[in-house]
Amino acid sequence: MHDREYGNGNGIGHDNAIGKGHSNGNSHPIGNGNGISNFLNGFANGNDIGNGLGNGHGMGNGHSNDNGNVNGNGAKGKKMKPMESEVLREQGHIMVDFIADYYKNLEDSPQDFPVLSQVQPGYLRDMLPDSAPDHPETLKELLDDVSKKIIPGITHWQSPGYFAYYASSTSVAGFLGEMLNAGLSVVGFTWLTSPAATELEVIVLDWLAKLLQLPNDFLSTGNGGGVIQGTGCEAVLVVVLAARDKILKKVGKTSLPRLVVYATDQTHSSFRKACLIAGVHEENIRLLKTDASTNYGMPPESLEEAISSDLAHGFIPFFILATVGTTSSAAVDPLVPLGKTAKSYGIWMHVDAAYAGSACICPEFRKFIDGIENADSMNINAHKWLFANQTCSPLWVKDKYSLIDALKTNPEYLEYKVPKRDEVVNFKDWQISLSRRFRSLKLWMVLRLYGSENLRDFIRDHVNLAKKFEDYVAQDQRFEVVTTRYFSLVCFRLAPVGGDEDTCNEHNRELLATVNSTGKIFISHTALSGKFILRFAVGAPLTEERHVTEAWQTIKKLASKFNRNGNY
Ligand SMILES: Cc1ncc(COP(=O)(O)O)c(C=O)c1O
Repeated sequence: MHDREYGNGNGIGHDNAIGKGHSNGNSHPIGNGNGISNFLNGFANGNDIGNGLGNGHGMGNGHSNDNGNVNGNGAKGKKMKPMESEVLREQGHIMVDFIADYYKNLEDSPQDFPVLSQVQPGYLRDMLPDSAPDHPETLKELLDDVSKKIIPGITHWQSPGYFAYYASSTSVAGFLGEMLNAGLSVVGFTWLTSPAATELEVIVLDWLAKLLQLPNDFLSTGNGGGVIQGTGCEAVLVVVLAARDKILKKVGKTSLPRLVVYATDQTHSSFRKACLIAGVHEENIRLLKTDASTNYGMPPESLEEAISSDLAHGFIPFFILATVGTTSSAAVDPLVPLGKTAKSYGIWMHVDAAYAGSACICPEFRKFIDGIENADSMNINAHKWLFANQTCSPLWVKDKYSLIDALKTNPEYLEYKVPKRDEVVNFKDWQISLSRRFRSLKLWMVLRLYGSENLRDFIRDHVNLAKKFEDYVAQDQRFEVVTTRYFSLVCFRLAPVGGDEDTCNEHNRELLATVNSTGKIFISHTALSGKFILRFAVGAPLTEERHVTEAWQTIKKLASKFNRNGNY
């Protein structure tokens, strides 16, 4: 019990399990009713969150007294502070229980959690007050609102029935790392502002580079190194800026309108955005056409042709973005020939491996980044498939000075005791923003608390589950697998009948909507060569074989409504 300071003895403690149904609130500080363990069922079946989290005492029950004390009935004379260790201890335990219950209920009572949120736009406005409260409310009140008002508006990315887009993989280690990060809450923009934050990041990204078998040029021991960007979009932006400034140094700033970049029509939209921010003219962004003949990877000869043509017309090719695992269909651009071309023309090549990069820690998938030795930079999203929780985008570059030259700022107020260039790393010069989170902590924790062997197994499990789904699809004549599957994404659709692509697209669109409206699973879609394609991406941490089988049963059953002339 730590409630004496805050209330009159009935408050929040953490020595009793939450939600065990104790009713007097005196000796069992948390919960005097159904308890918080029912909270998630609450929104679905109308039960209250439970009368947990104290009995109107402790932790403040929302009253402010005359002298501004707001910590509860018995806290007269004690001023509330934003960070108090004992409050943190008590409320932190409650929050961890709340979150653990969320995961347990996601698994045990999936029917209570429509994977794709079913609320309508604006649903929340009517449920919340127009303005922020003047006086504190209790954690119980707040969690009650989370259960009743927020959870219904959550699309459950961590549900075992989540198969949309790409997963945002969580893990206990990643979660704990986030927690530690939030707790320490340091801002390591320069080495000085938290030496450990900088040094751990350097070390952990070297570890990860070695797991990916990146060439030594990407390690911090030479001119290269890694930095954790917030997102994949930021990673691509900073390397485009670095490459732009590098070429402009050579050809002169006035040549900006002649700079051209290359990617494909499958490249993530962040590339176009990065180029526009960097001042590359929209008409100089060459998105090379792909099709099924290369499984939607970039045809190397198209790149060669485009570069030759641009050079002949006075343009300056300076950047190629190759993707390993495109967002749309997990296509892989062939790095070996593309890298050779990039090298021969002196063009910066970046490898966007946001999704599939993590799989390359497995020897059997490493081949997909063969050719990386001719690239200048590469990013992965560890929050997608390396269990590092949102957000964590490691980026490696071979030439850190290109990044620093493009992004460094040295205002007087940051000059205090700044060691000389090269003595330390100042990550503010490797990214857009100044403030930065201590993200390497969670990556370090993921790597240490699982070990690379387990991480490989987690990834392999997902790939095997995707294979299972692919087999189901392949065995059902009404469906077809549309692209060659390399990783944990299956692109499939109801096959056309008699070559009628329009009706086929319509039916697949309808099937998608019907499947997602069940709330049992969530899948997404894409378009490939004008065809409406369904995407089934495995990667949520709770997904097991039975979930994949159930998902297939759901899809199969709903597809029967399209039964036409015995075809489907
Ligand atoms: C291949 C690829 N690149 C970039 C991104 C963007 O990453 P982020 O959402 O972290 O900005 C994604 C996201 O799905 C992706 O799949």
